[in-house]
Amino acid sequence: MARITAGVTTSHIPAVGAALDNGRSHEPYWQPVFAGYEWVQAWQKEEKPDVVVLVYNDHASAFDMKVIPTFAIGCAEQFQPADEGWGPRQVPVVEGHPDLAWHIAQSCILDEFDMTIINEMDVDHGLTVPLSVIFGPQEKWPAKIIPLAVNVVTYPPPSGNRCWLLGEAIARAVASFPEDLNVQIWGTGGMSHQLQGPRAGLINKEWDGRFLDKLVEDPESLRRMPHIEYLREAGSEGIELVMWLIMRGALGKQVEQLNRFYHVPASNTAVGHIVLRPKADGADIPASDTIEANSPAAQEMIA
Ligand SMILES: [Fe+2]
Repeated sequence: MARITAGVTTSHIPAVGAALDNGRSHEPYWQPVFAGYEWVQAWQKEEKPDVVVLVYNDHASAFDMKVIPTFAIGCAEQFQPADEGWGPRQVPVVEGHPDLAWHIAQSCILDEFDMTIINEMDVDHGLTVPLSVIFGPQEKWPAKIIPLAVNVVTYPPPSGNRCWLLGEAIARAVASFPEDLNVQIWGTGGMSHQLQGPRAGLINKEWDGRFLDKLVEDPESLRRMPHIEYLREAGSEGIELVMWLIMRGALGKQVEQLNRFYHVPASNTAVGHIVLRPKADGADIPASDTIEANSPAAQEMIA
């Protein structure tokens, strides 16, 4: 059966991708940022995930005010790097895993999460920068990627608790996929940053540190954190951190922290990165209590 073996989070700062793409990663300003990802790049060579469910947000590249899905799952064979104004990043095409993606979509929808199914979508820095820093520069990405886009750009984004519960639903979906797959789930975005207005440039190291601590040891408190706290303490774009709770919810209650990195600044943002291993291998993910997910037809589907 497929299994979620690890959760990884990282900021997805566009300037980090630009520094890498323009050969500036060894400059004094950028070197400490990229050094913080050396551990995870070496670790990934050992872990060799087959598939990554990559939670991120689109930044008006694939979606705009015409269409604003709260949760969208990419079910296509491939996703091209988006042109965000300077031409597409020169990174490998993102290969999807349609069978698992459709399975997750079906399982989550029957589990009462109304996912938007996306069969054609370009992916922007929100998805490609995490690939670059977590795997390092590559000719071909070493895993299949299932993009899971969350609206954190236009109010209202989903609540932290809703994100957590979606993570649990994704964990149930993965655990019921019959193919033997090593699956990771990544949460991206954050940490504290604000791009506009009088508070532009806001970075709150103390709050970021507490968020990372709670992600490991007290995630229940993060489920209940209201949007206004993210906005007040972590800046208007700090709300991206709710996406990390999808990753965290998929790992169950107990986790082991394998690695953590925090650095300020990179561009006008704090960089945060953490690697977690579920302790109970999904055993403490609650079962679905929805009628459709437990119907004979659904049970036959996932058997
Ligand atoms: Fe972002």
